[in-house]
Amino acid sequence: MSAARVSTAVLISGRGSNMQALVEAAADPHFPASIDLVIANRPDAAGLAYAQAHGIRTALVEHRNFASREAFDAALQAQLSSHHVEFICLAGFMRVLTADFVAAWAGRIINIHPSLLPDFKGLDTHARALAAKVGEHGCSVHHVTAGLDEGEVIMQARVAVLADDTPATLAARVLREEHRIYPLALAKAVRALASGAPSASG
Ligand code: GRF
Repeated sequence: MSAARVSTAVLISGRGSNMQALVEAAADPHFPASIDLVIANRPDAAGLAYAQAHGIRTALVEHRNFASREAFDAALQAQLSSHHVEFICLAGFMRVLTADFVAAWAGRIINIHPSLLPDFKGLDTHARALAAKVGEHGCSVHHVTAGLDEGEVIMQARVAVLADDTPATLAARVLREEHRIYPLALAKAVRALASGAPSASG
């Protein structure tokens, strides 16, 4: 690992296709972040197998083993500290982190959300976009703050909503854009951090 690369952990709960896109991008030694750890909160997270097969260290921190969000976040922090992680990407991570944890990582934790924020925060974004009859939908990479899906947007991608779209067809088109922009947004965020400038484009 090049000393100049920012050591990054990806936190997942399931499939992990965005994590995979980040790993593929970071295979380029010029990419400014290295994916050094994948943490899942569920033992059945399919992305764990991909990470292990690619020689990436993995950790399982099962939320159901902890009595409180604080205890779960402390266990997460212990893993991050012991692996000397400098930056966190949430990628389909289905746990709300405590305000204290988020504050400790302010500016160094980002998330991908399948909507054009600030529209459609929360779950079921594709079905809600279709129900609202929007002409455009998409995805956003944003800084993580204490408010759900509220942090500053770093990058977005748009897709046209088609007349015959179902939540599944729309989700598939948005997911392709997620895989394209998450590595770009991670690179932008870590470069901005290194230069001391804000990474959000407003
Ligand atoms: C993605 O659509 C992401 O935007 C959302 O959950 C999904 C996770 O997919 N937060 P994957 O695990 O990255 O394949």
